[in-house]
Amino acid sequence: MPDSPDGLRHTGTVPLTTERLFLRRLTPDDADAMFANFASDEDVARYMSWQAYRTAEELREKLTEWQTDYEEKKTYYWGIFLKDTDELIGTIYLYTEGEIARIGSVSYCLGKPWWGNGYMPEALLAVMRHGFCEIGYNRIEAYHAKSNLQSGRVMQKAGMTFDGVLRQRCKTYLGFEDCYFYSYLKEEFTP
Ligand SMILES: CC(C)(COP(=O)(O)OP(=O)(O)OC[C@H]1O[C@@H](n2cnc3c(N)ncnc32)[C@H](O)[C@@H]1OP(=O)(O)O)[C@@H](O)C(=O)NCCC(=O)NCCS
Repeated sequence: MPDSPDGLRHTGTVPLTTERLFLRRLTPDDADAMFANFASDEDVARYMSWQAYRTAEELREKLTEWQTDYEEKKTYYWGIFLKDTDELIGTIYLYTEGEIARIGSVSYCLGKPWWGNGYMPEALLAVMRHGFCEIGYNRIEAYHAKSNLQSGRVMQKAGMTFDGVLRQRCKTYLGFEDCYFYSYLKEEFTP
């Protein structure tokens, strides 16, 4: 698809599929599964920008608020579901870091029972494909706290290139931590 001189072509959170996963919008009906599978888990939340939820009801309220955000075409927030069982196992979020420079940034989390199966690299690749081919980003980036090596592995396995370190850019449960930045460029990406 040719570059648009007018910038990005926002699509909103449209469904995406991969070999083993499907990605779709979350609804308030997903609150119980999301709470049980990862949103209440401190080990999942500790590197995220949110605190672990204490009740499914709290999460249901949040998901209700997000329905309005989904009407905004610039909002990209997918639930990650296993094709085989229809189970909600994680989320992946894409936001526009720079509209003019066409930069997208991704963050993600997965329920602990499903760690180590390569699901997140698979979801990340699908989101980057959508970001480059449909939205028109020129660069998609992701970063992780120095201590979160497993997230760095996701970026490496998805084929992203290490850009460098921003000193004490993150605050995690360990305190201020250096942040490791990775990126993919449109010209490098093979759909
Ligand atoms: C980071 C995360 C999304 C990885 O997803 P995933 O689908 O398990 O990714 P992978 O299967 O490719 O595994 C990535 C690495 O995690 C580590 N890992 C795998 N299984 C693990 C387990 N059960 N326990 C701890 N680490 C594990 C391994 O280092 C693996 O790398 P390897 O395949 O080279 O051995 C997931 O661990 C997670 O949600 N963590 C908490 C939230 C978070 O940190 N989000 C990112 C914020 S920057």
